[in-house]
Amino acid sequence: MTTILQLSDTHIVSAGERAYGVVDTATALADGVAVIKQIAPQLGAIDAIVVTGDLTDFGKPDEYARFLDLTRDLPAPVFAVPGNHDRREPMRAAFSSQTWMPSDGPIQWLLAFDDFAVIGLDTLVEGQGSGALCTQGLTFLKAALDGLSPKPVMIAVHHPPFLTGIPTMDAQGFDNRDALLSMLGDYDGEVQIICGHVHRMVVSRLGTIPATIAPGTSHAVKLEFRAEEPNSLMLEPPGMLLHRWIGSGFQSHLVHLGDFEGPYPFYSY
Ligand SMILES: [Fe+2]
Ligand SMILES: [Fe+2]
Repeated sequence: MTTILQLSDTHIVSAGERAYGVVDTATALADGVAVIKQIAPQLGAIDAIVVTGDLTDFGKPDEYARFLDLTRDLPAPVFAVPGNHDRREPMRAAFSSQTWMPSDGPIQWLLAFDDFAVIGLDTLVEGQGSGALCTQGLTFLKAALDGLSPKPVMIAVHHPPFLTGIPTMDAQGFDNRDALLSMLGDYDGEVQIICGHVHRMVVSRLGTIPATIAPGTSHAVKLEFRAEEPNSLMLEPPGMLLHRWIGSGFQSHLVHLGDFEGPYPFYSY
C-alpha cells in the first residue's frame, strides 16, 4: 500500500526573519519534520513527501536552501509544485539534482506507483496571487492521463480548484479550473485532487472529483467568511495530510504536527 505525506505552505524565509514579521516558519518546519520522524514507525513505509507549494515566502535562493536543509532528514523523497509565493527559476535551481525537476517550463512531474500515480502541476503565475494551468500544463496533464488510464490518479497542485467561501482567498483562486475539470472529468479512473494555499484543511469537490486542502506547517489563513474583513493569519496548530490508496478509493488522514501527551491506554474489554 503506497503512502504519501502532504506538506504544504512551509513559507520559509531568510535566516533571522519571520514570515509577516510574526511566524517562525523554519522552526515550525523543523518541529514538523521531527514529529514525522518520531511517528514514522506507526505509519509503515512512507513512499513520498509531496509539498503543495509556497515552499518559500519570497522565492529567494537562500529560502530554498533553508527549505532543503530543513527537510533533508525526511524519511522519503520530496516532490514539490510551486505556489504563488515561489519563483520558478530559483525553485528549479534548488531542486536541479532531482530527476523529477524539468530543466525548463512549468514545474510538473509524474510519480507512478503500483497502485496509483501522483501528477504534480504548476499553477504559478508570477506576479499574482491567483493561479492557472498554462497550455503546457494542460498538454502535460492530458498526456499523463492518457498513459495512466485507468490507474487511480492523485493531482497535486497549489491553488484549490474550488471556492472555499473565504472571500480573500477565493479572490486569488484557480482561474481556469473549468479546463482542469473538463480534462479530469473524462478520465476513466479514480481521481483525487490535493492542494494547499489556504493553510487549513478543507474537503470539497471539483465537479464530482474529491478535492482537499492541507493545513499549513506553521500558520493558518483565518477562517473568515465576511468579505469586509482583511486577509489575516492565525497561529492555529500546524498539520499535514497522509494519503493512501486502500483498494476501493483514496483515504486521507489529518495529522497534527505537535508534541502531544499520550498515548494513554483505553479501557480493555
Ligand atoms: Fe501559502
Ligand atoms: Fe499560496
